Amino acid sequence: MNKKIIVGNIKMNLIALSERDSYLKALKSEIKKVKLGDDVEMVLCVPSVHLDFFAKNLKKTKIKLGVQNVFWQERGSFTGEISPVMAKEYGAGYSIIGHSERRKYFKENDQEVNLKIKSAIKNGIIPIVCIGETLQERKEGLIKDVISRQLNEGLEDISQMQAEKIILAYEPIWAVGVDAEPTSDEIMEVRILIRKILTQKYGADTTGKIKVLYGGNVKANLVKKMCLNPQMDGVLVGRESLVPFNLIEIVKGFEKC
Ligand code: PGA
Repeated sequence: MNKKIIVGNIKMNLIALSERDSYLKALKSEIKKVKLGDDVEMVLCVPSVHLDFFAKNLKKTKIKLGVQNVFWQERGSFTGEISPVMAKEYGAGYSIIGHSERRKYFKENDQEVNLKIKSAIKNGIIPIVCIGETLQERKEGLIKDVISRQLNEGLEDISQMQAEKIILAYEPIWAVGVDAEPTSDEIMEVRILIRKILTQKYGADTTGKIKVLYGGNVKANLVKKMCLNPQMDGVLVGRESLVPFNLIEIVKGFEKC
């Protein structure tokens, strides 16, 4: 079976310790409802300040942990940044890289995304690389240009062996954080485009090993629709991951796929 991956992105939430604690409590009770393992994997990308806490408290579960960003340098005078070595040391196995919010608010570009991917892989962190077009770009018929640029520049000088470790997340920016819902056809169309670009770059074998998730306003009912197409490798979940019950409903949806 094609393993499904559900990634929760907590973003800059759980800001009080009490919120963090009640989230953990609810998550620990909800997680009992699902059987994570070879078929379905769950990754929770927590705020870095909470990483150690979640790592210690979720040790006995099969939930994997990630951060939401890492820097490409490993150590030194880079005020405010998180080293991939640090993230790994504190329990992260994954990092979201190039999320649209980082591209928007911190002006992260594809060259920086490329450096971060390379550094993450080198340091044993699986990069979850976000790509996707804005509504304006979609309206102007630029989806192909945007996705090609993000993949070609973002994955520049990344070998086949490195590429196999990457998880991609197609997140149409116009659906992230809002109530817009793309149709299955719209999602599949871009997924096919992504596969085509990757195949040109890496060949069919390597491309077959690269997971492509969907992200943007994911809710349990969207998963039901997605299951109709077995090509989906999983989802990146923002808002719904803030409620453990809802996040686990999404995981359950994939168990039934
Ligand atoms: P959303 O966020 O599920 O709240 O739309 C998705 C994301 O930012 O990855």
